[in-house]
Amino acid sequence: MRALEIKNLQKSYGKSPVIKGLNLVVEEGEVFGLIGPNGAGKSTLVKLILNLIKKDSGEIILFENGLKNFATEVGATIEEPSFYNYMTGKENLDIYKTLLKLSDDDVFSAMEMTGIRYASDKKLSAYSMGMKQRLAISRAIISKPKFLILDEPTNGLDPKAILELRDIVHKLNDLGTTIIFCSHNLSEVKNICSTYGFLNDGVIEFKKEMSDSDRQVDEMESLFLS
Ligand SMILES: Nc1ncnc2c1ncn2[C@@H]1O[C@H](COP(=O)(O)OP(=O)(O)OP(=O)(O)O)[C@@H](O)[C@H]1O
Ligand SMILES: [Mg+2]
Repeated sequence: MRALEIKNLQKSYGKSPVIKGLNLVVEEGEVFGLIGPNGAGKSTLVKLILNLIKKDSGEIILFENGLKNFATEVGATIEEPSFYNYMTGKENLDIYKTLLKLSDDDVFSAMEMTGIRYASDKKLSAYSMGMKQRLAISRAIISKPKFLILDEPTNGLDPKAILELRDIVHKLNDLGTTIIFCSHNLSEVKNICSTYGFLNDGVIEFKKEMSDSDRQVDEMESLFLS
């Protein structure tokens, strides 16, 4: 089953083309690492998949058009997570609990998974950057989505949180979740992903299996230097 199929996708901001006829297939169960230079269009692609911005042309097909409920079956963190500062962590997630018809257990187990449950009654104004990122990941996984998109999820995370994120990704993947992981942390991309693709000049230039080789990180790094 193809979790995601993108055909000849195009997107410009004003007169500046960013996505220029992009094609991509991600199979169900993959953990796909999306890498590419700053400004290449990774976050734009994520927002297009999430339908947060409108494409100019082309096709984006999720689960062969078989999704029943996009809101519960697709989870994501976007680059700048926004929360209500005057509400607690739990109250911020309660919004999604209500929208997605979930339970308190779902909220607490998501917060447990990301190690932020201890701060559930703290106001967001008292959260550090890494705590907010953990909360954003909790929000993304709250409905145990079939498809999870993480855009720079390791930003602001300490080494322990990064290791925990890796465990979360692997745990969800074992449960069948397909994941797109966008990051500039290439050793993390290597550790987390089963495949990767390089977005450059508006297209995915290639997609490959991730290897166990010690040189895999160097190989990815060299893409940015050529
Ligand atoms: N809302 C917007 N309006 C106009 N231009 C935009 C907008 N969002 C992004 N861009 C431009 O589109 C291009 C791609 O940006 P995008 O954020 O998708 O890149 P990225 O690959 O995610 O980069 P990074 O690695 O820095 O996160 C950039 O040139 C950026 O300036
Ligand atoms: Mg980005």
